[in-house]
Amino acid sequence: MNQTRVLFKRMTDHPADSHTIDRYLETGGYEQARVALGRTRDELVELVKTSGLIGRGGAGFSAGMKWSFLAPARPAYLVVNGDESEPGTFKDRQLLERDPHQMVEGMIIAAVANEVHEAFVYIRGEYPKPARRVQQAVADAYERGFLGRDVMGTGYHLDITVHLGAGAYICGEETALLNSLEGRRGEPRLKPPFFPAAKGLYMLPTIVNNVETISNLPHIVERGIEWYRGLGHDVDTGTFLFSVSGHVKKPGNYELPHGITWRQLIYDVAGGIRDDNELKAWVPGGASAPWFVPSEHLDLEITKSVTDSSGSMLGSGAVIVMDETTDMVAAAERLVRFFAEESCGQCTPCREGTTWLDMILRRMLDGGGRAVDLDLLYDVSDNISVGVGWPPKQTTICPLGPSAVSAVKSLLEYFRPEAEAHIVRANRVPVTIKGFGQ
Ligand SMILES: Cc1cc2nc3c(=O)[nH]c(=O)nc-3n(C[C@H](O)[C@H](O)[C@H](O)COP(=O)(O)O)c2cc1C
Ligand code: SF4
Repeated sequence: MNQTRVLFKRMTDHPADSHTIDRYLETGGYEQARVALGRTRDELVELVKTSGLIGRGGAGFSAGMKWSFLAPARPAYLVVNGDESEPGTFKDRQLLERDPHQMVEGMIIAAVANEVHEAFVYIRGEYPKPARRVQQAVADAYERGFLGRDVMGTGYHLDITVHLGAGAYICGEETALLNSLEGRRGEPRLKPPFFPAAKGLYMLPTIVNNVETISNLPHIVERGIEWYRGLGHDVDTGTFLFSVSGHVKKPGNYELPHGITWRQLIYDVAGGIRDDNELKAWVPGGASAPWFVPSEHLDLEITKSVTDSSGSMLGSGAVIVMDETTDMVAAAERLVRFFAEESCGQCTPCREGTTWLDMILRRMLDGGGRAVDLDLLYDVSDNISVGVGWPPKQTTICPLGPSAVSAVKSLLEYFRPEAEAHIVRANRVPVTIKGFGQ
């Protein structure tokens, strides 16, 4: 199955120097920024709204809609989220490293659309090479007059600051990111009452968008709404970057249209399962997403609406594939441990609950599992995310706590006998397990 290369086109055609300003200019670069500078805020917001561009950072919110909510107070800020810490996600890295000018041009367009003169790129600290490339791109853009006090001779003023995080997953959550940018602890703020579009950086109106979201903008300005919508599927417009990892023969980043099936993605695009093993399950949209299983989900279309209504999410586009050799208790424990380690600690259900979930799963793996443990897993999950349903109802400030529940919920829903077998083995004699929901 062929990829539809839009965001990845330049780096595919010119792998050696797609990150340089010379190659960018030679392939039409910064022409769309010039077009945007000649348009009004209303025109650009309407263009992006009608294009159907959905944020690619995980929450899946309309980019144009978010822009239209920006409060009128000025100054306002633009922050590009390049924290990319969701396990399994590595597409922004490729965009930052291989085509940084595409994002910088997207930032100029977003800045003009939102009447912003001060923008930031927040990059995770573990991405030194992408960060160096973005810093170079920003420096080159200043030198050639695409940034600064007189952008392209139009009198428009735009400064971009590149900021490196220090390696905390929670700083990808937009309000924690803003706190981190301000020099505070990276802890999420309570939303509502205030969303960043009303009170964000320094309590001023702020647009936070993901790297991939922003990188789409030059293409939408250049080729228009019809073309962009035509690439996609119903309401899921444009292409989508999938980071496929795990037990597939060809892991990697793939740019594809929405609407293909999971079977096509895993078998045709990613080459099928290693050693021709059986597919056991996959995480469809980053570690926070509930798992999918072949018996129920393999032939579903990959669209936001179908994935949402099937009990999971496309999230950040990270697809983690697990074959028949995977111990699902071990898989759940690994994911839960990540969230337990990354909890910022503000909310008790998240701070304590994720740690307890991890301890219970670990004792099951270590041979100390008890008959009550599966009920206990559910009970602790219920304290973090009431009803353990989807979409999650959270008792916490941000969705990190409920994200840990996704793996536990999936384990109990699809692999309960396997989890019970761990406990039976641990007790060396068969035990009767009074299971939740049985
Ligand atoms: C725990 C957590 C981690 C997140 N990490 C990221 C991230 O690394 N990158 C990102 O773009 N969005 C991340 N998000 C989503 C952001 O809060 C925000 O919705 C997004 O940056 C908005 O951009 P978009 O509308 O273009 O998707 C995270 C959210 C949560 C709750
Ligand atoms: S849910 Fe977890 S990560 Fe989010 S604010 Fe609460 S303690 Fe922090």
